[in-house]
Amino acid sequence: MSVWFQEVPTEGSVELPPDPRALDALGRNHSLETALADLVDNSIDAGATDILIRFVQRNARLVGLYVVDNGRGIASESIDDAMTIGGQRRYTGEDLGHFGLGLKAASFSQAASLSVLSRASGSEPVGRRWQLDAGRQTFDCDIVPEAFAAAEIDRDWQLPTGPSGTVVRWDSVNGFPSTDDAEQVDEFLSRTISHLQGHLGLTFHRILVDRGVRIVIDVEDADLGAGVRHPVVPIDPFAYPETLPGWPKQLRAPIDGAKVVLDCHIWSRRSNTPEYRLPGGAVTRQGLYFYRRGRLLHAGGWEGIHAPDTRLQLARVRINIDGDTAGMFVMNPEKSRVSAGPRFAPAVATAQADDGTTITDYLQAAEAAWATANRRRTARRSAAIPPGKGFHPRVTREIRDELPLLHEDPVNIQWKRFPTDAFLEFDRETRTLWLNRSYRQALLGGRRGGSNDLPVLKAVLFLLAGNVFEGSHFGARDKDNIDLWQEILTAAAKAEKSTFEARQ
Ligand SMILES: Nc1ncnc2c1ncn2[C@@H]1O[C@H](COP(=O)(O)OP(=O)(O)OP(=O)(O)O)[C@@H](O)[C@H]1O
Ligand SMILES: [Mg+2]
Repeated sequence: MSVWFQEVPTEGSVELPPDPRALDALGRNHSLETALADLVDNSIDAGATDILIRFVQRNARLVGLYVVDNGRGIASESIDDAMTIGGQRRYTGEDLGHFGLGLKAASFSQAASLSVLSRASGSEPVGRRWQLDAGRQTFDCDIVPEAFAAAEIDRDWQLPTGPSGTVVRWDSVNGFPSTDDAEQVDEFLSRTISHLQGHLGLTFHRILVDRGVRIVIDVEDADLGAGVRHPVVPIDPFAYPETLPGWPKQLRAPIDGAKVVLDCHIWSRRSNTPEYRLPGGAVTRQGLYFYRRGRLLHAGGWEGIHAPDTRLQLARVRINIDGDTAGMFVMNPEKSRVSAGPRFAPAVATAQADDGTTITDYLQAAEAAWATANRRRTARRSAAIPPGKGFHPRVTREIRDELPLLHEDPVNIQWKRFPTDAFLEFDRETRTLWLNRSYRQALLGGRRGGSNDLPVLKAVLFLLAGNVFEGSHFGARDKDNIDLWQEILTAAAKAEKSTFEARQ
């Protein structure tokens, strides 16, 4: 029998400071959006009313990023604590900060160089810089000269200025495209800015409204100066236009003597608003929304209460994890996820509203709302043949959601070589709408194609011509339509092709 000792004996200790390379590993779960949300947290904690996120471009290439605020700033005696990894301060009940890590972890996840330049009122401007480099031997943080800190802080940021403020600057940002091709950079910027608007608008929706904070995003070019400002607009996942009778309800789940309140909401129907659609799509955003101090930490998922289900997409539950219940939940250091402990799901199973409503009642009500809304919405639409090969999955999903579908073989839209210059061919046998491959390159504008390419073209064709495959033969009306589409679309395709070839 092996012996087990309750205590592990020790004899003295050695000091093992972390290797500076450990800096590299910080914040690996961040994306650009979550990293910037972490910096915005700090600006909000500093009482800022205005926050600017600025991308910096030189000769088309993206070279850096700034987050600027008009908050309290950092006093010269506090700057070293602020730059310290894990340097916690005294937090108040309102503060979003918690770990003393956010600024550094978020920055190092995205950039090889982090500079913080700040002025607190009544204090001299201060600046520090952390640089990640492979050969780092020590935890030495660089001191930025006061004059440079002042110059950065006093640049014309076009923010309502006050006596104080902070500039966080990233250089060598690893997620930026390493190209000076203006078109590619523009594409990156417009996609990234719109993702950021979505993520920050959702994460801070309550804070933007309740504390009157403004966040804007822009791009500065060396020659052109700063461009248009893209505001971050609050996106409230609970802002549905009409309530279902009897809802929302508050269910209380007893855990460890405290009560977690589940604020159970049901959207009455789907909607095209950003509030309903949300980044990532409404289906993945069903379920629990965890808030801490007004900041959304985690949007969607059921944490073991139930499996995700298309029919539950109208169900959203708000949970505030402040106060007594804080100990039951763990947020990750990136503040982008909350894990509920193993006792959470069983406790929710016993949760009840004052009128006795349980979580099962709630889920059933949400599912019933989905069924009713769908019947109402699609009832007026005539049934269609389902989409088959050639469609982008997102188009297929949308068609399935929007139309009642016939229980028949699907319609395919595919490319093949034609002996003629006609654009289309309808093949009733295989229910395939063939497209002439000789126009494909031109329509793709030189991009690489795939079997699900050109989703817009195919969606339009589906809407226009999908129903000619219904019935057992082409009627006279169908034939005439097909002739009409053929003439016009062939002319259009030829025009695309000659424009494309002229550019080559
Ligand atoms: N924009 C800012 N304005 C004023 N002070 C700031 C700003 N950014 C950071 N600080 C100071 O630097 C400290 C460290 O920030 P950091 O984000 O690393 O940790 P935290 O916010 O305390 O906790 P968490 O890890 O939860 O974010 C903050 O506590 C704050 O005192
Ligand atoms: Mg922080």
